Amino acid sequence: MSLAILRPVPVESSLRAVNKKVLSVVGLGKAYNAGSRVLDDISFDLHAGELVAVIGRSGAGKSTLLHTLNGTITASEGQIINQRDDGSQQNVAALPARKMRQWRSECGMIFQDFCLVPRLDVLTNVLLGRLSQTSTLKSFCKIFSDEDRARAIGLLEWLNMLPQALQRAENLSGGQMQRVAICRALMQNPKILLADEPVASLDPKNTRRIMEVLRQISDNGISVMVNLHSVELVKEYCTRVIGIASGRIIFDGHPAQLNENLLHTLYGEEITQLN
Ligand SMILES: Nc1ncnc2c1ncn2[C@@H]1O[C@H](COP(=O)(O)OP(=O)(O)OP(=O)(O)O)[C@@H](O)[C@H]1O
Ligand SMILES: [Mg+2]
Repeated sequence: MSLAILRPVPVESSLRAVNKKVLSVVGLGKAYNAGSRVLDDISFDLHAGELVAVIGRSGAGKSTLLHTLNGTITASEGQIINQRDDGSQQNVAALPARKMRQWRSECGMIFQDFCLVPRLDVLTNVLLGRLSQTSTLKSFCKIFSDEDRARAIGLLEWLNMLPQALQRAENLSGGQMQRVAICRALMQNPKILLADEPVASLDPKNTRRIMEVLRQISDNGISVMVNLHSVELVKEYCTRVIGIASGRIIFDGHPAQLNENLLHTLYGEEITQLN
């Protein structure tokens, strides 16, 4: 993926990309403990260029869903079918651990607490996104190619983070850390980007900035799935919304279809606390 494709493309191209299926989730289930099912019979298709919000009250299973897709949590049942460009399919829910690394490079994730290495500088943190495609020895010694460095610098420049490139990650603001986490995830050329509450700790200005970035990423054909607590942001930025209650999908459609009844079913009395 060249940096050029991270810039907005004409609407016609992005509409074409939206029709391409990249992932099929079929009957996905997760039980951390026997008898208590956190995800139950989750099925949906994900397409290139979609910006999909996952919403639901606290404990509904949103983070578990994203982590299960990415393979950081193992599914208890069901399939996660990776639809490859060459037409072949791969059930990533049944991959052995050694092959999971490859899937994680195709399905990047931005974690709620950023997961940056505090004492390393910003540029190195971004380069660490290449680990899944770098040999163990090279990654241990933090040896990266000129091409990787150029790409990392390009991504930081794109997100206005170049001035901080040599600053330690621990000295950044929350909004800056989030942008570095996005750069790191994009370093691995993912076709899917998962973001677990990427704006939870940000002020309104940084929240909009990050949502704009996610929109640009999806406009360039990457499927973005994002856990959000703000219905207002879902309606403003997302092309689709999946509503989860008690581990089951109860809504999958366009954000404009979210009405009071549906929101009440999803959030119960907590609805009054949402913006
Ligand atoms: N490692 C775990 N072991 C046991 N139960 C867990 C574990 N992780 C999550 N759970 C439980 O699974 C359910 C779903 O949790 P999850 O974190 O997916 O919810 P969420 O929708 O992301 O909530 P929030 O909006 O608060 O982040 C919760 O009841 C939670 O307590
Ligand atoms: Mg969560």
